[in-house]
Amino acid sequence: MPRILAIANQKGGVGKTTTALSLAAALTLAGRRVLVMDLDPHGCASAHLGIFPEDVAATSADVFRARTPRETPWERVVIRPRLADFDLAPSHAALLDMETDLADRKGKGVLLKEALAAGPAYDHVILDCPPHTGVVLVNALVAADLCLIPIQTDFLALHGVRNLFDTMRTLNRALPRPIAYRALATMYDRRAKACQRVLELLRGKFVGRMFATVIGLDTKFREASAAGRVIQDVAPGSRGAREYGELAKEVLSL
Ligand SMILES: Nc1ncnc2c1ncn2[C@@H]1O[C@H](COP(=O)(O)OP(=O)(O)OP(=O)(O)O)[C@@H](O)[C@H]1O
Ligand SMILES: [Mg+2]
Repeated sequence: MPRILAIANQKGGVGKTTTALSLAAALTLAGRRVLVMDLDPHGCASAHLGIFPEDVAATSADVFRARTPRETPWERVVIRPRLADFDLAPSHAALLDMETDLADRKGKGVLLKEALAAGPAYDHVILDCPPHTGVVLVNALVAADLCLIPIQTDFLALHGVRNLFDTMRTLNRALPRPIAYRALATMYDRRAKACQRVLELLRGKFVGRMFATVIGLDTKFREASAAGRVIQDVAPGSRGAREYGELAKEVLSL
């Protein structure tokens, strides 16, 4: 069974997609077989890797539409982007319709978990979650063995986290075991006093629940997405590449 890692935070632009792709690349470099599922209807992870819904046979949305887990068309959903060393289940705007499409579906919160259990063999499946609450995010959190919460080290950072905790608390009431999570400080500017202060606050709030690795600001991330590649390929010696390597080690040690 693969280990399922959900990258989630209901605040937008905090580094979820960057973390999903850079961690996938780091785990791949560590010799693991990795699948990234793009669950965000905006499809930023897919677009980053040069994959667009009109070019593919099936997408993550088809995983939710399968009648039974065994009928999930994984062989059509999963592709290997030309410039990546890991697999991708691309996004589709139809992920936005799941609220209505699945309205009357029984067990609609466990569809992804069951589909993954009947899915192809990977060491890790990384779920790039949408920045809004809904049936897709619930499916991701229910399926996850570990939820990674990227938090931008700025003063508005805790805003989205509160929403995510509300969602997790609601789910935890229905689940046999609480959702395991770790916070990840992102876009940290070492020279900014305000960033240092936020990092201290976060460490106080997430005692024992925060990755020791901190992801700093690095312009190479933007260069990587412009090139349709991951930072490890564009700038292997960069700080960003090194920090996601450290994060991968931590993830593997948990
Ligand atoms: N450590 C970093 N240093 C510099 N830029 C970064 C870093 N992490 C992410 N970025 C940039 O910040 C922007 C937002 O990041 P990203 O798309 O990963 O966030 P997100 O949480 O997935 O956003 P959304 O909620 O819209 O899906 C992107 O342009 C990305 O390249
Ligand atoms: Mg994103």
